[in-house]
Amino acid sequence: MHEGLLAGRAALITGAAEGIGRGMALRFAKAGGAVLVVDFNAEKGAATTEELRSIGAKAEFFQCDVTQRPQMEAAVAACVDRLGSIDILVNNAYRGGQITRIEKKSDEEFDQSMAICLYAAKWSMEAALPHMKAQRWGRIINMCSLNGTNAHMGTADYNVGKEALRTYTRSAAREWAPYGICANIICPGAATAGFLTFKKMQPEVAAASEAANPMGRLGDPETDIGGVALFLASEDARYLTGNTLHVGGGSHINGVAWNPDLGD
Ligand SMILES: NC(=O)c1ccc[n+]([C@@H]2O[C@H](COP(=O)([O-])OP(=O)(O)OC[C@H]3O[C@@H](n4cnc5c(N)ncnc54)[C@H](O)[C@@H]3O)[C@@H](O)[C@H]2O)c1
Repeated sequence: MHEGLLAGRAALITGAAEGIGRGMALRFAKAGGAVLVVDFNAEKGAATTEELRSIGAKAEFFQCDVTQRPQMEAAVAACVDRLGSIDILVNNAYRGGQITRIEKKSDEEFDQSMAICLYAAKWSMEAALPHMKAQRWGRIINMCSLNGTNAHMGTADYNVGKEALRTYTRSAAREWAPYGICANIICPGAATAGFLTFKKMQPEVAAASEAANPMGRLGDPETDIGGVALFLASEDARYLTGNTLHVGGGSHINGVAWNPDLGD
């Protein structure tokens, strides 16, 4: 359907071993894009890379902990070395923390969330900038969350990290627009492994969350989220920057039923 939309383009996607990152990688690859799969999970990262190659895409794996600045910068350099350029950058990697009340969250938890939500993206964007600026073309897509935009309970550190990334993205969009670089935000809703684990732990809250979604379901990483990311990564989105797209079946309109009783 979208064959060739990303022909000649190279994309770096963090956290692409599984979940939404893998879904976006598949969608980009099917549109003719080359993909650098960046993840700290070597086994799943290699498997996703093989999957992309099996559909005829150029794909490479780079093992990396995005919370370590030298590793993040090395991933951007590897994209240019191995794929010839960095045209599209997707900051997607995330590892969940504890769901607890705000007053029980430690400074260390906040630091970890800031590292993976904000700093990893800041470092990758700043490393990609000289390349995108030189070619007067770039697409940055940062994955944020309804948790932050709606102030969901139990995840204050994550909410803060993602909202910091949203405002950083808008600042970059403003400052880098003259260079042909567009930077946008997706707040997704998708049934990935994290949600499926959560569903096992708290089935009632998960069921309420699905039932409260106006479309009655959580999205598919490739066909629901990946398609919107593909549009943002394409030439068609060249006049669109600094925006937040809630790709969640309408769950942001009246707020979703993520409202766990945290107790005292
Ligand atoms: N799934 C949802 O409904 C949902 C909702 C709101 C926001 N998001 C956001 O979308 C993005 C993807 O979510 P997902 O559900 O697909 O996550 P996921 O847990 O399924 O996948 C995350 C990936 O990131 C990798 N990763 C984690 N820490 C890393 C690190 N330090 N360095 C390198 N790789 C690392 C993991 O190995 C994994 O492959 C995240 O930014 C998340 O905050 C997801």
